[in-house]
Amino acid sequence: MRMSTINRKQFIKTGVALAAAAAAPNLLFPFAADRKIKVAVIGCGSVSNMYLPHLSKAPLVELVATCDIIPERAKAAAEKYKIARHYPNIDALLKGEAFDLLVNLTDMQVHGELNKKALLARRNVWSEKPMANTYAEGRDLLTLAQQQGVRIWGAPAVVNSPQFAFMAKAIQDGKIGKVAAAHAHYGHLGPHWSAFFYEKGGGSLPDLGVYNLATLTGLLGPAKAVMAMTSIVTPERTVDNKGKIKVAVEDNAMVLMDHGNGILSHVQCGFNYFDPYGHEGEGQDKPTISIWGSRGNLSLIGYDWAPFGVEMATLENEKTVRHATDTGTYVWEQGASIIAEALSTGQEPRINVEHALHVLEVIEAARASQQTGKRIELKSSFKYPL
Ligand SMILES: NC(=O)c1ccc[n+]([C@@H]2O[C@H](COP(=O)([O-])OP(=O)(O)OC[C@H]3O[C@@H](n4cnc5c(N)ncnc54)[C@H](O)[C@@H]3O)[C@@H](O)[C@H]2O)c1
Repeated sequence: MRMSTINRKQFIKTGVALAAAAAAPNLLFPFAADRKIKVAVIGCGSVSNMYLPHLSKAPLVELVATCDIIPERAKAAAEKYKIARHYPNIDALLKGEAFDLLVNLTDMQVHGELNKKALLARRNVWSEKPMANTYAEGRDLLTLAQQQGVRIWGAPAVVNSPQFAFMAKAIQDGKIGKVAAAHAHYGHLGPHWSAFFYEKGGGSLPDLGVYNLATLTGLLGPAKAVMAMTSIVTPERTVDNKGKIKVAVEDNAMVLMDHGNGILSHVQCGFNYFDPYGHEGEGQDKPTISIWGSRGNLSLIGYDWAPFGVEMATLENEKTVRHATDTGTYVWEQGASIIAEALSTGQEPRINVEHALHVLEVIEAARASQQTGKRIELKSSFKYPL
């Protein structure tokens, strides 16, 4: 995918504006590099097994380094994907081989501090979710990136699927009339390999709910207010890296969003759902997202991070028909490769950091609503991805 002249000009303009805002413009890495982007991956655990194969095949990516505080993991990943350097911590990584984009795949709790170090060293960042531990920290990271003349983006990449595009267009074209309500759900029995999912700073909202929250806000618009209930269903778990642990954050959540114009939606997520399709979602072909309007309804088939169809029934065509069955090149683990491509070509990606920040604010508001029993108004907003 190459840029159009207009897009490239726009992107360069943004880059120039950002660089101008910086105390010292970023001379190491101008936007629209028109070359392969040098990528370093930090965190060589479970999800790196999905990212690294995708990055290693991405035409505009050159993988130059891996890093993990468990050094054997960084070494093994470097050997497997023929990456020249590996480092045992971020400080060594940032002092070592030069690179343009940090791909942060570490524990949720350290995303904010690692992203900050990378931005301070004028590296662009793609971060797994959440991009920071609080909304305020996320905002500060974006300001820092702008000051440094670099960019930051956060997972997920759900807005890139052809099914998301189909639903967005159907809604915008008025196919389902005036939109009233939506429901989304995602859950499984919880990861067994690492404790951080259940420790403070983890939780089912930033790990699972984040996908549905990004999809529904991406389709229905930013949430104006949130009400939620959360709970802990399983207070103790046994995980591979720490044995028996106490669960400190929600493993069960019900979130209501008010998108304005009368549109209400609901997201449920949790680590206690028996799901015959398991963590990988293999074979899931049921709707996980439903949207209702006055003239029709839409159901997304499969999880929103791996959808493969959209069913639609309308006043004109009452029989439900499955559309958008082609998944194209979309896969959920493509986020970092897409960002590297954007940095090389100058074409602004559909994934937008303001959207990731908004979802972070929704998650924080859901927890505040649980604590206070109140409806929480939100400040943040973002441009519709489509
Ligand atoms: N596993 C999945 O299928 C999956 C899917 C989508 C997103 N994610 C997200 O990816 C992130 C990582 O999840 P995971 O399942 O791979 O966890 P994991 O525990 O398997 O891997 C995390 C890795 O990060 C390393 N690490 C932790 N702190 C570090 C630091 N300060 N510096 C360098 N390395 C550090 C750990 O040693 C570990 O190897 C999380 O944000 C998770 O929500 C995971």
